[in-house]
Amino acid sequence: MKTVKDIPNLKDKKVLLRVDFDMALNQQLTINNQPSSSVSHGARIAEPFRVEKQKLMIDYLIEHDAKVVMVAHLGDTGEFAPLIPQLHMLLGREIAFLKSIEEIPAYLENYAGPALLENIRRFPGEKENDEELAQKLSSGLDIYINNAFAVCHRKHASVSAVTKFLPSYAGFLVEEEIAKLGQAIDAPAEEKVIIMGGVKAETKAPVIKNLIDNADKILLSGVIANDIAKARGEDIGRSVVDDNINKILSNLDIASPKLVLPVDYIMAENRRLDIGEKTIAMYREVINSAKTIIWNGPMGVFEKDEFSAGTKLVAQAVADSSAIKIIGGGDTIAAVNRFSIPLEKFTFVSTGGGAMLAFLAGERLSGLEALGYYADK
Ligand code: 3PG
Repeated sequence: MKTVKDIPNLKDKKVLLRVDFDMALNQQLTINNQPSSSVSHGARIAEPFRVEKQKLMIDYLIEHDAKVVMVAHLGDTGEFAPLIPQLHMLLGREIAFLKSIEEIPAYLENYAGPALLENIRRFPGEKENDEELAQKLSSGLDIYINNAFAVCHRKHASVSAVTKFLPSYAGFLVEEEIAKLGQAIDAPAEEKVIIMGGVKAETKAPVIKNLIDNADKILLSGVIANDIAKARGEDIGRSVVDDNINKILSNLDIASPKLVLPVDYIMAENRRLDIGEKTIAMYREVINSAKTIIWNGPMGVFEKDEFSAGTKLVAQAVADSSAIKIIGGGDTIAAVNRFSIPLEKFTFVSTGGGAMLAFLAGERLSGLEALGYYADK
């Protein structure tokens, strides 16, 4: 896999830079019931972490006199135009906005600083990995850099097909994510603890299956814990489980003592909505003796105060531990922010949600495949 450092000379090179600006948004702020003047309409970025993680790459390219056009998505339909003033603030520089792909070559001829194209998923063909779209996107450009680890599990035109039309390189963030997540996977199994919670059990189970032999303990909560508890024959009341438990848990030894389930819960309407005090104490003890921790997914419905203690105390225990601690996933980062725990307390915070889990599950990520990552391994 070629990386940015392999590009011989960036001066005046026209760079198509795939970034990940897919962020949680707040509704527009209002002051005295009047809309804030800082955005024209729509929403504001609630969680700037992913934007901040792009700054290093963008600054580097600009310092090396490259001409940069950024491509990103914002959900499937979000619009970047209202967010440009905030992106400008977060990145510390003016960002031009390009509404259509046709505008790119002309903009590059009269280049006036980095530009961002409208949400690429609003253009037909992105999610189909359409080669025509990829070719159109590449026209007038010299180089493609993928700095969007969080979208590398998607076989989309701006992630995969585009690499057929331009010399392609991994950006700093893609390199960093691969290195840090790889270190966590390869860390010795003894004293390696994995914490998995949240709602999307189908993306957590493959990680557990891939890492169970290479971890000491897997502390569980959320839907994946409910699924396993049910499969073990526990009465879980009305707690949420997946419809396809058998498929999700296939090839997993659910009786393994490495899979640690909660022993008590905070319940409401006969549902398990948070882990209880005994479980918190037990999980904290395991966390305190770990040397490597990988955490994805909250312990309970942390958005509601009455069900937030489990996630809060587990988050604090991870943050305070002297282990190598890797966290990731939108909900996990949102939880850490809600409890005002600085992200700097963690060794590495992955920008990837689904991509982080797919990588930890040992899956081949289409975006990395397109960059030649697996061919070199
Ligand atoms: C993410 O939020 O994990 C990435 O931006 C990918 O988004 P997607 O799940 O909509 O493909």
